[in-house]
Amino acid sequence: MIYFDNAATSWPKPDAVRLALNHYFGEAGGNPGRSGHRMSVAAARIVEGAREALADLFHANDPSRIVFTHNATHALNLAIYGLSQRGFLQPGDHVITTSVEHNSVMRPLRHLEAMRVEVSIVACSADGMLEASRIRDAFRPNTRLVVSTHASNVIGTLLPVAEVAALARERRALCLLDASQTAGSVPLDVQELGVDLLAFTGHKGLMGPTGTGGLYIREGVELAPLIRGGTGSHSASETQPEFLPDAYESGTPNVAGIAGLAAGVAILRDLGIETIAAHERQLAARFLALASEIPGMVVYGPSAVENRCGIISFNISGATPSEVCLMLDESFEIMSRPGLHCAPSAHRTLGTFPMGTVRFSFGWFNTLAEVDQAFSALREIAAWARKGIPAGEAVSAEEMGGGNR
Ligand code: ALA
Repeated sequence: MIYFDNAATSWPKPDAVRLALNHYFGEAGGNPGRSGHRMSVAAARIVEGAREALADLFHANDPSRIVFTHNATHALNLAIYGLSQRGFLQPGDHVITTSVEHNSVMRPLRHLEAMRVEVSIVACSADGMLEASRIRDAFRPNTRLVVSTHASNVIGTLLPVAEVAALARERRALCLLDASQTAGSVPLDVQELGVDLLAFTGHKGLMGPTGTGGLYIREGVELAPLIRGGTGSHSASETQPEFLPDAYESGTPNVAGIAGLAAGVAILRDLGIETIAAHERQLAARFLALASEIPGMVVYGPSAVENRCGIISFNISGATPSEVCLMLDESFEIMSRPGLHCAPSAHRTLGTFPMGTVRFSFGWFNTLAEVDQAFSALREIAAWARKGIPAGEAVSAEEMGGGNR
C-alpha cells in the first residue's frame, strides 16, 4: 500500500507516537491541572512538555503563547472570531486574504462579510503563486487583518508570507498565518516571519494524532475566547481567566492526542525540518520529471520545486479525478485525494473548478521508489483513459494490470 494523502492526515504515525498514547493511558491517565495527585501531575507534565516543544519548534519565546485546539480549523476560528469579538474586526473593517485559501479561512471570513466586514480576496496566478505587491495594492485605510496560507493545500505552492507579514506590520494590520500544510515539513520561525498569529494542526506534518492543533498568539495580540468554562485555575472566580493559555483552553484537553503530538515533535527535532523539507522536495521533483512522460497528464502549479512543498495536483485527460483516485486505490493500492480539497477558490484560481484534481501529498515516510511505482500505475490509467473506456466500468485490478502490487 502506498499512502499519498499526507495533506489530509499523515500516515503512518511513528511507533513513538503510538507508544506515547499508550503511556498516557497506562501511566499518566489523570486530568491535567485539575488535581494534585500523581496521575494528574503526570498528565499536566505531558501537556506542558508538548507546549514547550512546540514553542521551541516555532521559535516562540514564551510557551504559554501556544494554545492547544482540536485542529487548525478550530485555531483559525479562534483567531478570526477572537479578534472580531474583541472589537478588532467590526462592520466597516477590512480583511485581506488570498485566492488559494482553504474553506477554514474562507468560511469564517465570508460569515464576517455577511456582517459587513469588508473582505478582499487577492488573486494568485494560475499556477497558485502570490505576488506580494498584490497584497500591498489591496490595503485600505481600514485594513485590520491579513490572512494567508503558508502553502496551498491543493498544489503546494509556498506563499511569500514573510513579505506579507512585513506589509501588514507597515500598515499596522495583523497577520494570521495558516500553517496547516507546512508545520513539520517547512521550517517555521514566528519571529523571523513576523506573524502575529499562526494556526497549525497536529495530525499532518507534525505526525501527531487527529484532534490536535493549536494557535500561536504573539504577545500583545488580544483575542476573546471562543468558549468559556473550567480551566482548573482561579476556580473561585465565575469569570474566565485572562492569562494564557488558560483563557482559551476551557474543558479537559485531548491529553492522549497531545502526548502523541509531543512524540511527533520530538521526532521532527531529531530529524531536522530542513531534512524533511528536502526529502519532500525530492519526491515532488521526481514526480514533476516523470509527469512530462505521460501523454494527457496535466500537472498544476509551478515547475520549480523550490516554490513548492510536497503537494502535487494533476489530472489525466479522459478520466475524472474521482475515477483516477478510485482506480489508484482499488487496482494499485495507492491512496490519494480527488476533488476540490475543501478549497473551491484555489481550484477557481487554477481553472480546475468544479471538477477538481487528483492530489498526491508526500510525507517523510514516502520513498522515490513509491513515486516510480505510482507512475507505472498512472501510465496504465492514462493509456486506458485514452482508449475512452468509461472509467467506472473497468476498475478491476486484473484489467488494469495492477494486481499483487
Ligand atoms: N484540509 C485537509 C486537506 O487538504 C483535510 O486534505
